[in-house]
Amino acid sequence: MIKYQKIFLNDKEIEKAINNELIRQQDRIELIASENYVSEDVLKAAGSILTNKYGEGYPHKRYYGGCENVDVIEELAIERLKKLFNVKYANVQPYSGSVANAAAIASLIPKNGKILGMSLSSGGHLSHGYKISFSGYFYQTYFYDVDKNGILDYDQILELAKKIKPDLIICGASAYSRIIDFKKFKEIADQVGAKLMADIAHIAGLVATKLHPSPFEYCDVVTSTTHKTLRGARGGIIMTNNSEVAQKVDRWVFPGYQGGPLFHQIAAKAVAFKEALDPSFAIYQEQIIKNAKAFCNEFKLANIEIVSGTTDNHLFMINVKKSFNLTGKEATEILERANITVNKNAIPNDLESPQITSGIRLGTPAMTTRGFKEEEFKTLAHIIIQLLQNPYDENIIKKSKEEVSSLTSKFKII
Ligand SMILES: Cc1ncc(COP(=O)(O)O)c(C=O)c1O
Repeated sequence: MIKYQKIFLNDKEIEKAINNELIRQQDRIELIASENYVSEDVLKAAGSILTNKYGEGYPHKRYYGGCENVDVIEELAIERLKKLFNVKYANVQPYSGSVANAAAIASLIPKNGKILGMSLSSGGHLSHGYKISFSGYFYQTYFYDVDKNGILDYDQILELAKKIKPDLIICGASAYSRIIDFKKFKEIADQVGAKLMADIAHIAGLVATKLHPSPFEYCDVVTSTTHKTLRGARGGIIMTNNSEVAQKVDRWVFPGYQGGPLFHQIAAKAVAFKEALDPSFAIYQEQIIKNAKAFCNEFKLANIEIVSGTTDNHLFMINVKKSFNLTGKEATEILERANITVNKNAIPNDLESPQITSGIRLGTPAMTTRGFKEEEFKTLAHIIIQLLQNPYDENIIKKSKEEVSSLTSKFKII
């Protein structure tokens, strides 16, 4: 059980905002698929005096003195991560998933090279080639989509890859609820002579516990964030089994894209990796999936349109336009009024803009950490359905808020 404390600072304005955030996190049901509640140990490491230390470079090859302790920490983080994913080389310095992707891509292809990634509306990430990110600015980018059922069609991706002849194919997603077949992606990459990169930011915890197939035997490089299903401090990681790629990755992280490592975050990542190596983490990941399936199924029983049909992982998207005649933005705002936090999400062939969208994305990792099981998620599904079916009924909003409050006070974090 997590127990967070209020904090006391001389800076009263920041103290107030942080403590208000603590109350917000306690009182709301958190369904953002990319968020989680870290352990108290992860929190302590992230808030530690390591934030004082500079140490550009890598363990035993630093540009600064006094690195003997941070070397121990970074080496532990690397060793634990390698064990967790059974991989030969790991870089734990990326400040975020996006920077990890930038460094990984640069390690594999030259600037202006061709990338084939998953489109944003099919569930891909900005850093997989979208025009407003570094990836769309520095590279020539092309996208594959899901099919009309919202599922990856590997034959279509192969046809596209043959036409485009990309230097790099990126697989992995921010909003895709089905299993990703990394082996098929490798076959496609081989047929067109492309490198293959998997971004497992969302499913890392599931991959680590073998609840989702692993990409490692098929990919030149694998990137991830550490703060989603992996339940660690915020940040990125890059892994590979290829020593040449590993050398390039290290060079592209520092000095390529970053300066001094954030040792407090690296220590917090190391703590999280140790937690993820504990057998209890696999039980947690199993529960995430059981909860997602039970949650999703309750919507399906009410004839609500689930993008891609169902879920095999920790998240799923609802087509709120079709199911409730609401935009994703409206649905998000209605749920927020009842203390339920979700995010609006583009869905395949979305006619709305990314600021409006026709979908919402729901994920179970955070509330599973708090102790929710299938029963709580089923209850929650009914609260959400009632709210979205009666979006402007103040009585229903009030009643739902009370129901949410009884759920959150049963699973406390303060
Ligand atoms: C698949 C994927 N990759 C990368 C990222 C980027 O991570 P960050 O926000 O840490 O840059 C995200 C974030 O949501 C993601 O979903």
